[in-house]
Amino acid sequence: MDTKRHWENVYTTKAPDAVSWYRRHLETSLALIERATDAREASIIDVGGGESTLVDDLLIRGCKNVTMLDVSQTAIEITKKRLGLTAEQVRWLIGDIVEIELQPQAYDLWHDRAVFHFLTTSERRLAYVRQVTRAVKPGGHVIISTFGPEGPTKCSGLEVMRYDAESLHGEFGGRYRLVESSHDLHQTPFGTTQQFLYCYCRLD
Ligand SMILES: C[S@@+](CC[C@H](N)C(=O)[O-])C[C@H]1O[C@@H](n2cnc3c(N)ncnc32)[C@H](O)[C@@H]1O
Repeated sequence: MDTKRHWENVYTTKAPDAVSWYRRHLETSLALIERATDAREASIIDVGGGESTLVDDLLIRGCKNVTMLDVSQTAIEITKKRLGLTAEQVRWLIGDIVEIELQPQAYDLWHDRAVFHFLTTSERRLAYVRQVTRAVKPGGHVIISTFGPEGPTKCSGLEVMRYDAESLHGEFGGRYRLVESSHDLHQTPFGTTQQFLYCYCRLD
């Protein structure tokens, strides 16, 4: 099954809080975003935002320039519906992050929780990094969260990669300076835990 079909199937068959990655609020992401930038003024893209409430929380904090991208149109429609009229304040993009054409140097901050780890071929990882390097402004902020070394080997039935800070930073290369990294023990709605890694890098 291709990427889009897989995720459309997930979001048409499961409730927002019935997926392993569900969290009421992405507190670690929010704290990092607020530490990295003046989030209200920054141009922020959430890649593979799915049905997460990060976009709601950014709008509540007064962020004026938020883009949400996902390969699943269903996830975007459900998120828009939840937001109601405030959805109009967000730019919505539907597409595969490896293939979609993004505006060059459009974003001050790139956020990805649990998307990069689905890229299991070096070609797709390279294409992703090229996208970030092109779309983020020089000096911009890149926050990527993947499963950590002790995280699961699969998510949503798909094989995933697991990273420590060094190996994740290594995928991005010399133009990225690792500012900080941390582990997050995510409690799934099913009562299990998953180790996530967060890396915050700055582009040259
Ligand atoms: C595990 S979910 C995480 C959702 C959200 N970031 C969160 O933390 O709650 C992965 C999300 O990435 C999206 N996704 C997966 N592969 C993608 C790709 N290649 N391009 C864009 N979105 C993708 C899926 O549709 C899904 O919404």
